Amino acid sequence: MLNSKNVYLGKVRSSIRELFEYGKRRKEEIGEENVFDFSLGNPSVPAPEAVREALEDIIANTDPVVLHGYTSAQGDFSVRKTIADYINSRFQTALTADCLYMTCGAAASLTIVLNAILNPGDEVITVAPYFPEYKVFTGHAGGKLIAVDGAEGTFGIDIKNIKAVLTPRTKAVLINSPNNPSGVVYGEEDIVNLVKAISEYSLKHGTEIYLISDEPYRELVFDQETHVPFIMNYYERSIICYSYSKSLSLPGERIGYIAVNNKMPEWEEVYAGVCGAGRALGYVCAPNLFQQLVKRVCGTTSDISIYKRNRDRLLSALREYGYEVVKPEGAFYMFVKALERDAKQFAERAKQFELLLVAGDDFGTPGYVRISYCVSPEMIERSLPAFKALADSYK
Ligand SMILES: Cc1ncc(COP(=O)(O)O)c(C=O)c1O
Repeated sequence: MLNSKNVYLGKVRSSIRELFEYGKRRKEEIGEENVFDFSLGNPSVPAPEAVREALEDIIANTDPVVLHGYTSAQGDFSVRKTIADYINSRFQTALTADCLYMTCGAAASLTIVLNAILNPGDEVITVAPYFPEYKVFTGHAGGKLIAVDGAEGTFGIDIKNIKAVLTPRTKAVLINSPNNPSGVVYGEEDIVNLVKAISEYSLKHGTEIYLISDEPYRELVFDQETHVPFIMNYYERSIICYSYSKSLSLPGERIGYIAVNNKMPEWEEVYAGVCGAGRALGYVCAPNLFQQLVKRVCGTTSDISIYKRNRDRLLSALREYGYEVVKPEGAFYMFVKALERDAKQFAERAKQFELLLVAGDDFGTPGYVRISYCVSPEMIERSLPAFKALADSYK
């Protein structure tokens, strides 16, 4: 007997992947330029030049036996120290190398952290819309994902919804800001209220609640006035799951880290749990070439001006055609209200106009579709008549 849960997971494709595969077939049929594929969150701007330069230099000047050899399970010490120092100088924290664990991206960071802290039956609260893999990662770590609706009209955090689901089994709250799929950034008030709610609850009930921040889009914010609060400055029991997939346009290279806040009393235990979960899952020694790379280019970000340009163009055009959209302040997604109740039907109709949009049901928010606008500005322009025709088809 195989593990039926895993066999099932391997057989059901996510609706995003399903649509992406459909797009590939459709492009072969009618030509790439005639399909408006907004399905995947694959960065469309190249990695910064500094990445190529650093890689060339590292390869040319490092002993290959060392470069391609194992590092410590939790990552090379000097890499972790450089990142800890960088975080400290940027956010006034006092992290050490031993608060960091290098991973193969945010997906691995999340899986490790959830496995480190969850006992069977523990609950993890998240805010919808949310990244669909949270359910898979939490379930596999023995926990249960409890999704609550985000604030109406803004997709921010609705504290009363969070308070309504806090129980003695609540082990963590998992947030993602800038958010996939809404592009919304949780503001300082959201974070302060969230921290107050979980602190009061855990104090009253003698429980420990961790705040996990999934941050692949931290650097992807478009406007000067948009501030992404750094959770370690607000809450002791906080853990960050970071990734360079989007900030450096390196999703295929699989590199990121976990940072455990050393202000929490039991941080060494939590870090040991992270090391243990990483070991048990076989997620040790993230690729060394890319560990060395992020050490060199720590603080560098891809040119995100194209994403901003795409956001501005798409947002104003869609609103003009009559679509309801909450303005995305970051990431490269837009969550648009479907023009009929059933977003899956709406996404099906969009296909008739060669628009590939992901229905919001899997993100825990039915009635919406996600547009990944990490595409070329030319494609945005070419797609606009299709968006207009789709809207007109409902009039
Ligand atoms: C919200 C969110 N979390 C985690 C991930 C996984 O990212 P990574 O490529 O770093 O594993 C993604 C990828 O799209 C994401 O959107």
